[in-house]
Amino acid sequence: MIPWGDPDFWQDPHPVLSALRERQRTAFTDTGVLAVLRWDDAEWAIKGHDFINEGIERLESRGFRPGDALHTWRSHALGIMEGPDHTRIRRLVGGAMSKRHMERLRPLIRETAARLLDGLPAGEEIDIQRGFTAALPRMVMMEFLGIGADELMGSMGPLADARIADCFGQNVTQDMRDTANAAIAKVMAHVAALYEARRRAPRDDLLTSLLDAHDAQGSLSEPELVTLFSTIFGSGGTTSNTLAAGLYELARNPEQFGLLRADTARWKRGACEETLRMHPGIAEMPQKAAHDMEAFGHSFRAGDTIMIPLHAPNRDPRRWEDPQAFRITRDPDVWHLSFGIGAHFCLGQAIARCTLEEGLAVFAERFAQVSLAEQPLWAPCVMENRLQSLRLRVVA
Ligand code: HEM
Repeated sequence: MIPWGDPDFWQDPHPVLSALRERQRTAFTDTGVLAVLRWDDAEWAIKGHDFINEGIERLESRGFRPGDALHTWRSHALGIMEGPDHTRIRRLVGGAMSKRHMERLRPLIRETAARLLDGLPAGEEIDIQRGFTAALPRMVMMEFLGIGADELMGSMGPLADARIADCFGQNVTQDMRDTANAAIAKVMAHVAALYEARRRAPRDDLLTSLLDAHDAQGSLSEPELVTLFSTIFGSGGTTSNTLAAGLYELARNPEQFGLLRADTARWKRGACEETLRMHPGIAEMPQKAAHDMEAFGHSFRAGDTIMIPLHAPNRDPRRWEDPQAFRITRDPDVWHLSFGIGAHFCLGQAIARCTLEEGLAVFAERFAQVSLAEQPLWAPCVMENRLQSLRLRVVA
């Protein structure tokens, strides 16, 4: 059994997951969900059409009802859409988020990263999340979306203490539902006002192009517009968590840090992909059976759910040699599942990759040495996988 709900498990889930994966293809979590552990099975389940993404039923099973703000928001999220609606929206935004577009952001990302690192308080021990990893993706995202500093707080301020991700987990209380709904309602109203402002004064930004798609072609409904913007903006948080995980691994692996520092242009891609493989920012991928079937030695009825704990397939020794080791020299083209695969493949992977590669590279160029100032704690995982804090000791 996987003790998914136990905070201690998350401090080092790998011994348990590895032992189970070697013995069996699946295991139940302590919450009764069937987890798929091996690379081949996980890739097949995510990529194919026999299993599809879980829909709104998960949130409903946590007590959210139609009319609740979080329910409305989630109902229009790409992640739970299937079929023509899903294809239509992806086609509309895919171009604007392509690798070609994102490559242009690299100089800006490097400049922003350098400025943030220069601004860290003098002294050897730093709270790197506060000063760097939380800020960099947010600033890149503001530039990409065309959000001014004056428009920022309304986009994320209400979410600060709302524990939205926890609303998808166990033990959701009425208080949590009320707080999440109130926060999401505020954000949705703010985003609708942002669109209105762009309607009055169009800019050369993603908000305006989404609006054009909405107005000219009638292709995006109002709730779809709002949800899409906040999904994209909110996903910067996943990049932040992954960037922190990368610095954590570099601090624990001085020889890998030395390699990166010696030739950042050569190794930044490897450092980024290895971080993503070892520390998937979204660690729990819920799926449901599209029809009755047999799979992984189990019988499924349509709608039965499974979960892919991405840490397990991403560290499967059937795919990677010595998978628990952080090695930036691995072939970066051997893909992991941290951005998903198939129809729902992460739309923001290009901007996330540029931000991670340049963030890690500029950090390694700035500091000669880095180590952990204290052993950090991992937050118990509800969808997201993140360090609660990260204090580093650096030598300039
Ligand atoms: C390291 C950072 C990130 C990670 C690890 C990550 C991971 C993922 C994963 C696992 C999925 C779900 C795939 C599935 O359901 O099968 C996803 C979907 C998505 N991501 Fe990301 N993501 C990251 C950053 C971003 C960023 C920065 C953006 C926006 C700029 C973004 C936008 C999206 C969108 C819109 C979807 C929904 C796609 C769909 O359902 O068709 N992500 N991401």
